[in-house]
Amino acid sequence: TPRILSGMQPTHDSLHLGNYLGAQVNWVRMQRDFDAFFCVVDQHALTVNPEPEDLRNRTRITAAQYLAGGIDPDVSTVFVQSHVPEHSQLAWVLNCITGYGEAARMTQFKDKSSKRGTEGTNVGLFTYPMLMAADILLYDATAVPVGEDQRQHLELTRDLAQRFNARYGETFVVPDAHIPEGTAKVMSLQEPTAKMSKSAANQNGNLMMLDETKVNTKKIKSAVTDTDNAVRYDVEAKPGIANLLRIHSALSGDSIDALVERYAGENKYGALKTDVAALVADVQAPFKARVEELLADPAELDRILARGAERARSVAAVVLEKAYNAVGFIPAA
Ligand code: TYM
Repeated sequence: TPRILSGMQPTHDSLHLGNYLGAQVNWVRMQRDFDAFFCVVDQHALTVNPEPEDLRNRTRITAAQYLAGGIDPDVSTVFVQSHVPEHSQLAWVLNCITGYGEAARMTQFKDKSSKRGTEGTNVGLFTYPMLMAADILLYDATAVPVGEDQRQHLELTRDLAQRFNARYGETFVVPDAHIPEGTAKVMSLQEPTAKMSKSAANQNGNLMMLDETKVNTKKIKSAVTDTDNAVRYDVEAKPGIANLLRIHSALSGDSIDALVERYAGENKYGALKTDVAALVADVQAPFKARVEELLADPAELDRILARGAERARSVAAVVLEKAYNAVGFIPAA
């Protein structure tokens, strides 16, 4: 069976609706058709220098959210990046075939480093995409289910795989990004032309999966829309309404056209918001309950992660060995 791999950074306690709709829904959909690997990328999260206790808690809570969202650890391999040392080992090799300019062109790096300045930017942020490429290439993944914001990193991963194969012989599978149609970029409720983002200045734009339902309902009711008062799907003129329609459609399964028809006429923004809030509450309730259950038994969660790491290593070690041999590292014994 072909493989897939994806991951999320444990930088916060809760995933947001963008993580859920942009990535996790596809993970769940794909897990039975692929040999699926889902990694909590704690090494990537270290680039923001979290408190150790926060990183520990968030790594477990992120893993718990993978499972709560529908990842079945008996079907998929769920593991923590730092448990599989092959990721950093391959990342070094990939660093050595990546151009400095090529890495400097990554828009996520440019955004983050321009906010932090040269002194505030650690080198981990710069080499981040090559670690991500290693995550993917170690599993011969053919597809990588992610949101739109990861497209450029996936392009780099493909370039590095092709470059390595051309220079050292066929070693890596060249992966494709698997980006959903309607929910590739869930927007901020407060700034609907910018993506919903854990690091956004205005957290009122984010719907956090583990927040109280009433907090999210309030955020949805005060979502920025426009002064016109008719529901239409117009991304340019009505980005806030378009975002709410896409969220509704993803959660309800109804088409955008059907929704536009349903909310036709004047003054239906309130009705649309009320319905979106109810749909979000419906996914949140079981999700939160399951996370609480899982966190109540951290030993069991750690056992699942240990099992996942063992399975992941058995795959990653083989690919790393191939890559090590290809570049001319001699075997240890
Ligand atoms: P991260 O942790 O920022 O986000 C996790 C996933 O959520 C998606 N996403 C969104 N999708 C739609 N709308 C949004 N507003 C939105 N915000 C986030 C992301 O695209 C991602 O799929 N570099 C990655 C983590 C990573 C990874 C990997 C992913 C490390 N190694 C290997 C895939 C494969 C990241 O920072 O995702």
